[in-house]
Amino acid sequence: MTISHRPRRLRRNQLIRDLVAEHHVHLDGLIQPYFVCDGTGVRDEINTMPGIHRESVDSLVESIGNDRKLGISKVMLFGVTDRRDPMAATAWDDDNPVIRAVRKLEDKFGDDAHVCADVCLCAYTDTGHCGIMVDGVVDNDKSVDILCKMSLALAKAGCDCLGPSDMMDGRIGAIRKTLEAEGYTDTIIMAYTAKYASSYYGPFREAACSTPGEGDRKGYQMDFRNCTEAVHELSLDELEGADIVMVKPALTYLDIISDFKRNTSIPVAAYNVSGEYAAVKLMTQTGLAEEGALIMENLTAITRAGATIILTYHLRDILKNGWHQA
Ligand code: PBG
Ligand code: ZN
Repeated sequence: MTISHRPRRLRRNQLIRDLVAEHHVHLDGLIQPYFVCDGTGVRDEINTMPGIHRESVDSLVESIGNDRKLGISKVMLFGVTDRRDPMAATAWDDDNPVIRAVRKLEDKFGDDAHVCADVCLCAYTDTGHCGIMVDGVVDNDKSVDILCKMSLALAKAGCDCLGPSDMMDGRIGAIRKTLEAEGYTDTIIMAYTAKYASSYYGPFREAACSTPGEGDRKGYQMDFRNCTEAVHELSLDELEGADIVMVKPALTYLDIISDFKRNTSIPVAAYNVSGEYAAVKLMTQTGLAEEGALIMENLTAITRAGATIILTYHLRDILKNGWHQA
């Protein structure tokens, strides 16, 4: 048989495959999420997310110190607290576990650690909704007011990057305006621009105790049947002053990531969410896949779609096991 093109030639051995490899996971673009709670000496593993903990500020600072030795320098903090009420007062209280953690981390590591914090109310409202309820519905503008207060408190504590994950309308513009008015011109906003109402958040809600008591999040998070709507959200967040735009979840929304890549010139992030993490753990624990290979396939797919920044619970395991070098 005479064949002029034999693509298999470039797949013959590892060196050749490496030579022609087009896409690589950008290690410097990976962010490790953490859950911070009240109290001291607390470090509880989250049942549904093996290897991920809910921990008090003292323990968190120690964990991040250890993770830094592995090579983790960018972190995203989520708060967990029992102090919840209709107005989410703890969200911007000085005694909020995330705000306390940010202060400690800034003090200890300064510019050697890039500290991002989640900006949302679901960990602080009695209802578990991402905004303030008025007459049984999430009130957009009241919620934005509190989100601005929370953002300012985090910026004052020294937070490098804010991640508004609430999906209220106009919050990016309002937060940017608040930061500018108070002189926080260096605070980065990484907007959860296209955040879909997803079943893949299950393990996170268990970790953050943020399952809404009643109803669901479909009145503010996006409908997974839509994609042009994501591009509309993208143009709004860009105009309102976002520095980075995010798509969430990642693996079932690769088309949205690539739409973002084509439609913006600012960095695109993707959130490899808790359900995607748990699925990998379940598959590997039952021997259905090799963990490092499965994780790198997932993260490479997200990279190929166009994300240069990926939030992933797998980062610690990747560095510990050298899976990025395999
Ligand atoms: C809350 C929030 C959620 C996640 C990040 N911020 C869950 C939700 O919207 O219910 C999900 C993260 C994950 O699943 O890993 N605003
Ligand atoms: Zn929320």
